Amino acid sequence: MIKETYEEIIALEQERQNHNVELIASENFPSQRVLNAAGSILTNKYAEGYSGKRYYGGCKYIDMIETKAIEDVCRLFNCNYANVQPHCGSSANLAVYRALINIGDTVMGMDLGAGGHLTHGHKMSFSGQDYNIVSYGVDENGVLDLDEFKTKLYECNPKMVIVGASSYSRTIDYKAYRDIIDEYGKSHGGEKPYFMVDMAHVAGLIAGGVHPSPIPYADVVTSTTHKTLRGPRGGLILTNSEDIIKKINKTVFPGIQGGPLEHIIAAKGICFEEANTPEFKKYAEQIVKNSKAFCQEFLDAGWKVISGGTDNHMFVLDTYSSIGISGKDAEVSLDAIHITLNKNQIPNDPLPPLKSSGVRIGTPAMTTKGWLEEDFRKLAKIMMDYMTLYSKEEVDEKVEKEYTDKIVDLIDEVNAR
Ligand SMILES: Cc1ncc(COP(=O)(O)O)c(C=O)c1O
Repeated sequence: MIKETYEEIIALEQERQNHNVELIASENFPSQRVLNAAGSILTNKYAEGYSGKRYYGGCKYIDMIETKAIEDVCRLFNCNYANVQPHCGSSANLAVYRALINIGDTVMGMDLGAGGHLTHGHKMSFSGQDYNIVSYGVDENGVLDLDEFKTKLYECNPKMVIVGASSYSRTIDYKAYRDIIDEYGKSHGGEKPYFMVDMAHVAGLIAGGVHPSPIPYADVVTSTTHKTLRGPRGGLILTNSEDIIKKINKTVFPGIQGGPLEHIIAAKGICFEEANTPEFKKYAEQIVKNSKAFCQEFLDAGWKVISGGTDNHMFVLDTYSSIGISGKDAEVSLDAIHITLNKNQIPNDPLPPLKSSGVRIGTPAMTTKGWLEEDFRKLAKIMMDYMTLYSKEEVDEKVEKEYTDKIVDLIDEVNAR
């Protein structure tokens, strides 16, 4: 029987977040302003519809908030139209499928094992169940394979192509995909698939100008707001096409969602404002510097990183070929010494998904907490030493305590700066 109240459990989770090194690449710590809006009285209000066209009265201020959030996100990403109502990234993606193509149509998406997301065509997701998915992946170096993409495009004649990833550490050349799709169009009487980019993971890096923007090239762009963008949990859809935004708006509401979460939309708006500042640009730059320094430490020690390095906020460490432990064992063992990350499949993984050969490691959250390159270098050493001891079955309570103390010291050292 759990005795704690909800408030007590939240306090326990707060403690965990304060005393853990958070390396999950899709997590972050938003500002107090964002948290205040997300926890505000705006949650009380029903506002089905869009600004100026609501199905409920009393939406004067709600309209101001949603209109401002749309203006702010369009300014941030330099695009014409936005829908800020999707409750999450998966809903944003669902809206695009439903708005632009028909059930059963062919869609090309990045394979989950290569770094794609479930909603890019996995058979356990609506995407793989309702559409005919042709997956593309990475080459033998773990880098997106444009030749394979092109071959499959000409073979399967898709209605939509999705580019974007959940665990891919290299810069994505959106223009190269646009060029391939346009060239395909020329040889198909002008008929070409919609080009959708899911920038969920790198949205903050794009906002901060350290990753190229897909906006000039894609027909439609989806994102989450809670990863590198450092906002509340949520989704959004951007486009420069009036025709597409009309279809998207109808699909988000009433097509797949009911009342918008206006407290979250206000929090998204604040995050768009915050991301449009010189401080955020510096933050985005630091995320990448930290990620490169962190990754290099593993590479220098001879550990295997998928694609051989990173250009962005994360990398996938192949623990299985490096020291013979699965991603699951790495995740569980590091959790015991207050390091949080997630197991991750590697391309052509020899282990099943619940074990996996690697872990995904990201720097956005700890960069928010002020960590710099040297802190991540120290962390890498602690992680490698501990996982190596674990692989040799040399971890006991004493070792676990010794390494937990090292992590606590490192956190304290940064906090004291
Ligand atoms: C690339 C990508 N798209 C979409 C999503 C889905 O976001 P959500 O969990 O908010 O549905 C994720 C989540 O990890 C993601 O990595």
